[in-house]
Amino acid sequence: MDIKTLQEEIAALKERLSVTIVAHYYQKDEVFEIADITGDSLELAKRAKETDSEWILFCGVGFMGQSVKIIAPEKRVAMPKIACCAMARMIDSTYFDEAVEAMENAGVAKEDILPITYINSGAEVKAKVGKMGGAVCTSSSAVTIIKKARESGKKILFVPDRCLGQNVARQMGLKSAVIGIDDEKAIKEADIVCYNGFCSVHQLFSVKDVEFFRKRFPGIKIAVHPECDPSVCEVADFVGSTSQIIKYVQSLPPEQKVAVGTEYNLVHRLRDKNTYVLSATKPECPTMNETTLEDVYNTLKEIEKGSPVNEIHVDEETRKWAKVALERMFEYVGA
Ligand code: 13P
Ligand code: SF4
Repeated sequence: MDIKTLQEEIAALKERLSVTIVAHYYQKDEVFEIADITGDSLELAKRAKETDSEWILFCGVGFMGQSVKIIAPEKRVAMPKIACCAMARMIDSTYFDEAVEAMENAGVAKEDILPITYINSGAEVKAKVGKMGGAVCTSSSAVTIIKKARESGKKILFVPDRCLGQNVARQMGLKSAVIGIDDEKAIKEADIVCYNGFCSVHQLFSVKDVEFFRKRFPGIKIAVHPECDPSVCEVADFVGSTSQIIKYVQSLPPEQKVAVGTEYNLVHRLRDKNTYVLSATKPECPTMNETTLEDVYNTLKEIEKGSPVNEIHVDEETRKWAKVALERMFEYVGA
């Protein structure tokens, strides 16, 4: 089937079934176009739980669909493709425990550690964080959550994204250190101790790219996601989550040139003669790009037949504690 026909078939299937299709901004255009709800990870987590359909079909990566299931267990959540975020896979509950141990070895007592996990993590890690009194954050809520967490007077353990942790620390004028890179003294003295995970897509953007665009188009603005390396964020004009980048680009006068450092599908959608991708390569998130219209169509057909595939399940004990960490985020951001 061609794209148009597939989209029509999907629309007809959606009419017959109680399904809401949700898509992250990084999805392919043809998938993004058929979604009922689109947004960044915070918006999707908030809005998906408010729908009244029985099924959520989540076009994104695993931790995103899993977050909906954690918040709204009564919903049935399926993913057209079991696509994973590589960064979320860089930490599990064992590595989390080891990160806590590394802080203890550096002289920080466990009761003085407050963990914050980026939403790009699995349910087990969120559950560990919830049990220790911590919260989830997204790229758009990280500063608010860390400000709130700091009221406890404890040292923050930030997992799994080193860059987001370091960028927030820089923005708030706090000291950061990275487990596995910095020594015990630096860890003991830091306000935010970061786990050494990263997003390989956002690592593609470099200071050289910024310099290249500034030389080629004097006066150009540079907007990047906080998953980019701190060296890049430091020299950018704007640092923000996917939604914040969209708002920023749209607020610029039409003649203002801007180069954007985040995932290709999103930037491409924004692209006009004055908006550029801040890279000579094509910075696509490989797993986000795995979901196709055929996958969406096939998953809907399986739901219709009563034999759903790729359904998300989270065991109740894990779900309960992961929900505590997610709900803290909603409470802190007033959502
Ligand atoms: P947002 O929170 O900006 O949607 O980011 C999610 C993500 O995976 C970015 O790579
Ligand atoms: Fe994960 Fe990076 Fe893909 Fe975002 S762009 S989903 S952080 S791998």
